[in-house]
Amino acid sequence: MRRPLVAGNWKMYGNSASVKALLTSLKDLVWQPQVDIAVFPPTLFLIEAVQALKETPILTGAQNCAIEPDEMALTGEVSASQLVDVGCQFVLVGHSERRLLLGDTEAILIKKFQAAQSKGLKPILCLGETKEQREKNQTFTIIRDQLNSIIDSLGIDVFTNAVIAYEPVWAIGTGLTATPEQAQEVHCFIRALIAEKKEAIAQNIQILYGGSVKENNADALFTMPDIDGGLIGGASLNADEFGAIYRIA
Ligand code: G3P
Repeated sequence: MRRPLVAGNWKMYGNSASVKALLTSLKDLVWQPQVDIAVFPPTLFLIEAVQALKETPILTGAQNCAIEPDEMALTGEVSASQLVDVGCQFVLVGHSERRLLLGDTEAILIKKFQAAQSKGLKPILCLGETKEQREKNQTFTIIRDQLNSIIDSLGIDVFTNAVIAYEPVWAIGTGLTATPEQAQEVHCFIRALIAEKKEAIAQNIQILYGGSVKENNADALFTMPDIDGGLIGGASLNADEFGAIYRIA
């Protein structure tokens, strides 16, 4: 049975005071032993988050990692080994903002995925189509290509220790949440693609939905059979709302 996972992607939001306040509030959540929970702070605040949350069930992840797993002359980057060293368990790979705005090509994402896993980080592979691609009925082609890019390079077995997040680009930060049916259709498609290669992996992998998940729509989304939780952006910056979504999962 897949455990639900609720993950909060803080993106580039927060300063010393707001992060301290948010972490303090998160420590007061009512724990749900049957649900996994994680936060993804900006890199600068990872160590503080790990320390602040160490007595709680909340795991910590990074929003990015270098293309190489260990220390190298890669100015400005943070390696997977450094993320593990400070207590990270997850890393986002392929978030649409990095694909579309920050130059993360499929070749780069393959390296980042491999670097992360080589050091024991669990990658959350983000997949999603743009509004234009959906309007052109290209959603399933895009999702298939993004998923197969990793499978074809690294093999299906890498998904025994990974999470997938379906995040339609048109739903991210827009308030235009995918309907539960729209999200379920793509999640089912992703699970079927994996099942074509390894049924056992398909049944066990957590597939999260991301894109304007809020307290008032989480229940309808999370009750869908192939939605195993959410990758939450804006709503994760508010401990009360993030906690409410966590309780719903
Ligand atoms: O990674 C999650 C994020 O992209 C979703 O953002 O604000 O639409 O929940 P938001």
